[in-house]
Amino acid sequence: MPDSHPPSMSGKVALITGANTGIGLVTAREIARRGAHVFIACRSAQRAQPALDMIRAASGNPQVEALALDLGDFGSVHACAKAFLARGLPLHLLVNNAGLAGTRGFTASGFELAFGINHMGHFLLTQLLQERIRASAPARIVTVASRAHARTDGIDWDAVRRPTRTRTGVQEYAVSKLANVWFSAELGRRLAGTGVTSYSLHPGVVASDLWRSVPWPFRSLIKLRMISTEEGAKTSLYCATAPECAGDSGLYYDKCRIRTPSTLGQDTTLAQELWRRSEAWLA
Ligand SMILES: NC(=O)c1ccc[n+]([C@@H]2O[C@H](COP(=O)([O-])OP(=O)(O)OC[C@H]3O[C@@H](n4cnc5c(N)ncnc54)[C@H](OP(=O)(O)O)[C@@H]3O)[C@@H](O)[C@H]2O)c1
Repeated sequence: MPDSHPPSMSGKVALITGANTGIGLVTAREIARRGAHVFIACRSAQRAQPALDMIRAASGNPQVEALALDLGDFGSVHACAKAFLARGLPLHLLVNNAGLAGTRGFTASGFELAFGINHMGHFLLTQLLQERIRASAPARIVTVASRAHARTDGIDWDAVRRPTRTRTGVQEYAVSKLANVWFSAELGRRLAGTGVTSYSLHPGVVASDLWRSVPWPFRSLIKLRMISTEEGAKTSLYCATAPECAGDSGLYYDKCRIRTPSTLGQDTTLAQELWRRSEAWLA
């Protein structure tokens, strides 16, 4: 259930990726309900329109707009950032929420599918918007990672430049979520003293469309044991708005509390190496 006295975000501007469904849709709706001007960045205009209608109706806030964004295609990421920046608005909240799991492939920009979308697309988007976000401080950048980040024992820097190797893509998903944890922690270190704070989180195991690749009827059965998207958006909303964590940065959250990531997730050297390599891949 929504918080009955949420912190007001009137006068603030937020951009949430993958907000046409699932955790992102609830996050966008609740941020709009708090009065912010909300941009939902989605890869399908067809799927964005019903989400826009729903968010406007449920929040009573007409200031909700869509931007086209395919995180697997750097050209699309550049176009999305350009379209937002051209509006001349500040940006107080970026939620790197979009993600995919259990799907195999290779992105248009030349990365393993999960890594390319979940990490590289968001890395580039954040880089392109960073100056505007810094100029809008205090501001927050929230990256939706996963507890699955702990289910890998490392990252193969060559494999992330090749198509998905495993049959299920689960291993590659874990690597992409480890990259989310490293990225957010390193971003927090790099933004220290700017008034912009960075958060990563596990939303819970949520009955969203993320499980679309699991065949029916198994999908319906496993979803019975999962939490709702309303519940699943709570930690994103906490990191995005809670006054209690306004001064924290680079930390990882679960159930609206600070949690320690996996040992690998805490590795600063590897987080720095991911940053360095991600920058080089964009050059
Ligand atoms: N569900 C869980 O149990 C769970 C657990 C841990 C972490 N998470 C994380 O939570 C986040 C939200 O997932 P969810 O559960 O809400 O899943 P979801 O319902 O499948 O939503 C994912 C969103 O990401 C978008 N997306 C996928 N590929 C994209 C691309 N190339 N470019 C732009 N947007 C793209 C999807 O767009 P389309 O609708 O067009 O496909 C959709 O809007 C993800 O980062 C996921 O890894 C989820």
